[in-house]
Amino acid sequence: MDVNKFIEEQIKQIKEKVGNDVAINALSGGVDSSVVALLAHKALGDKVKNIFLNTGMMRENEPETMKQRFAEVGVNVEIKDVSDRFFNALKGEEDGENKRKIFRDTFYKVLGEAVKSSGAKCLLQGTIKPDVEETKAGVKTQHNILSQIGIDPEKEYGFKTVEPLIDLVKWEVREVGKALGLPQSRFNTMPFLGPGLMGRVIGEVTIERVAIVRKANNIVEEELMPLKPFQCLAILFKDMATMKSDENAKGRNYGNIIAVRCIESKDARTAEITEIPYPILKKIVQRITTEIPGVIKVVYDITPKPPSTIEYI
Ligand code: XMP
Repeated sequence: MDVNKFIEEQIKQIKEKVGNDVAINALSGGVDSSVVALLAHKALGDKVKNIFLNTGMMRENEPETMKQRFAEVGVNVEIKDVSDRFFNALKGEEDGENKRKIFRDTFYKVLGEAVKSSGAKCLLQGTIKPDVEETKAGVKTQHNILSQIGIDPEKEYGFKTVEPLIDLVKWEVREVGKALGLPQSRFNTMPFLGPGLMGRVIGEVTIERVAIVRKANNIVEEELMPLKPFQCLAILFKDMATMKSDENAKGRNYGNIIAVRCIESKDARTAEITEIPYPILKKIVQRITTEIPGVIKVVYDITPKPPSTIEYI
């Protein structure tokens, strides 16, 4: 791929597709939507407004960190707290695929309202090739796939989508980011899924359960990021495990189970397990079981992709 030619071509296409309208860019904070933000900034200047929806499923300090990172490259980001909408919509739902569909629908409804109220007609987003492939193959419903599976965004939510990265895989996106001057240290972040921590809670998604998995992901990242893996994550199981209670406790007590995953990959299509030194694993177990009330068991998942996927749902 000729990166500079790609950038030139996409800037031209964004200008053509958006025309004289205003556009909204939905930022997630990941590298894909960050690259789109810079492309759009070059193509449209002030005619593009960057919105970050705080769905309540973000990692520790994510909205603030993201706003700060973009301020450093001269891009203004508006954070909208819409977490109530997501927790209400997800109430009582336990099935992973249904949760993803509810997330997608809530996400685009909220975004549709934002697009409408700003007078924009176009939504820019950082959908990439594997998102489309996996959704089409029925492997999973990525939240940012609409027209490719027969959902007309204009009819359904009131806007057109513009997807400049649709033919690229992750490493190509990173190359484009580099050429656009995206600071590598601040933006070459670990992949994180669109539906956020919702995807790391098996079973019902509540404020309390997301708070548990948020803390666990934070500990896992603090301990494992120095190893520079492709991705590391923590998942909260739906099942509970028996707790070793003290002598005075009555009856059996249960606590939460967290799974830890750390993988190496080039494009997330396949993945191998990172061989983490034992002392680090022990430290993770010790921190999770002491720093997060109610978590009493931690397991380390060593399954590659395939047969497993990287995330759990
Ligand atoms: P899986 O679990 O399918 O994940 O092996 C492959 C890569 O994609 C990320 N992922 C997502 N990214 N929206 C995204 O933007 C999603 O809905 C989504 N689901 C998974 C995952 O973290 C991994 O890097």
